[in-house]
Amino acid sequence: MRKIPLSKARIGKEEESSMVEALRSGWLTHGPKNKEFEEAFASYIGTKYAISMNSCASVLFAVIKAAGITGEVILPSFTFTASANAVVNAGAKPVFTDVDYDTCMLDPKSVEEAITPKTEAIMVVHFAGQAGPLKELKEIVDKHELLLIEDSAEAIGAEYNGKKTGSFGEGCFSFWPTKNMTTGEGGMLTTNNQKLAEQASLFVAHGIKKAVNPPHVGYRSAVLPGFNFRLSNMLAAIGVEQLKKLDAMNESRRIAAGWYNDRLSKILGITLPVEKPGRKHVYQMYTIKVAVDKRNTLVSALNNAGVEASVHFNPPVHLQDYYKKKYPAHLPITEKIAEEIVTLPMYPDITKEDISYVCDTIRANLA
Ligand SMILES: Cc1ncc(COP(=O)(O)O)c(C=O)c1O
Repeated sequence: MRKIPLSKARIGKEEESSMVEALRSGWLTHGPKNKEFEEAFASYIGTKYAISMNSCASVLFAVIKAAGITGEVILPSFTFTASANAVVNAGAKPVFTDVDYDTCMLDPKSVEEAITPKTEAIMVVHFAGQAGPLKELKEIVDKHELLLIEDSAEAIGAEYNGKKTGSFGEGCFSFWPTKNMTTGEGGMLTTNNQKLAEQASLFVAHGIKKAVNPPHVGYRSAVLPGFNFRLSNMLAAIGVEQLKKLDAMNESRRIAAGWYNDRLSKILGITLPVEKPGRKHVYQMYTIKVAVDKRNTLVSALNNAGVEASVHFNPPVHLQDYYKKKYPAHLPITEKIAEEIVTLPMYPDITKEDISYVCDTIRANLA
């Protein structure tokens, strides 16, 4: 039986030799490859600063802490739980708002309605590889003087009117293996805000600030109770090589999405992903929607046929055990999407034959 994974990173000789070189250099933790990776990433996204960390969860947390946010943060519930966990762990309050059915992303009207005097930030989650409604959200944050946090974990290289996601607000990226590029575990903060960059850097390495005139050798003084969120030099070395391939990998994903669109548009009962005008979708995931009563049987049928289809995300965060008790919300569109969505295999090297097989299996099981 054919086996088609949900995701598979494109890792080549370049990543292997770069990582081994970093290992042999003796720099086992944060080192020169971090600097190289950060400079290249900032230049790619178009921001002044980029700070590498060990995960996107750490980046999201560090941003909220560094900005000193303790009030309300508006975010979608239709996201991976890390987005909301970061808000709670940083000591702020998540306020979940509903999403747009087509894009599965924050609906600016619901956001505007959720603003209170306690609102301090809006976190947009760029779902599955496409930018959220950045123009409308920028207008809202500017009007109410709020921070815009971009959870860009799923959208590395995505564009909104020609500008990269992660350059509109505080960009938070993930390099987990299913993402558009990977370092295994890893994350990156992108920002143009010098103060926030400096403050977030403190959380990465124990809150220790290099003293200008240290009173003695080995003087290390913590200015806040930081963490250890460092990305190792070896993983940064992989990141440097992955970043060079990112555009080509995203192009391969876009071609694969075209094959899916072509085949699936001929099958009744499927809602295809929507690529909004002016937004370059980089298909970190390829998701479709099917009728609620067909979804679970379809995913099981695909799995039984060797296709690693999955669901992102169900339950949505506000219906998860911890959140439903502490932060109850009524989000009808989010709940509908969570019951209809299916994630199909998507990665740069998926073949046209693999996609035909997935689509044939869907056709055979959706009737
Ligand atoms: C939207 C979103 N935010 C945050 C994360 C967390 O990323 P990481 O695993 O790098 O902490 C993910 C990862 O799956 C995600 O999809």
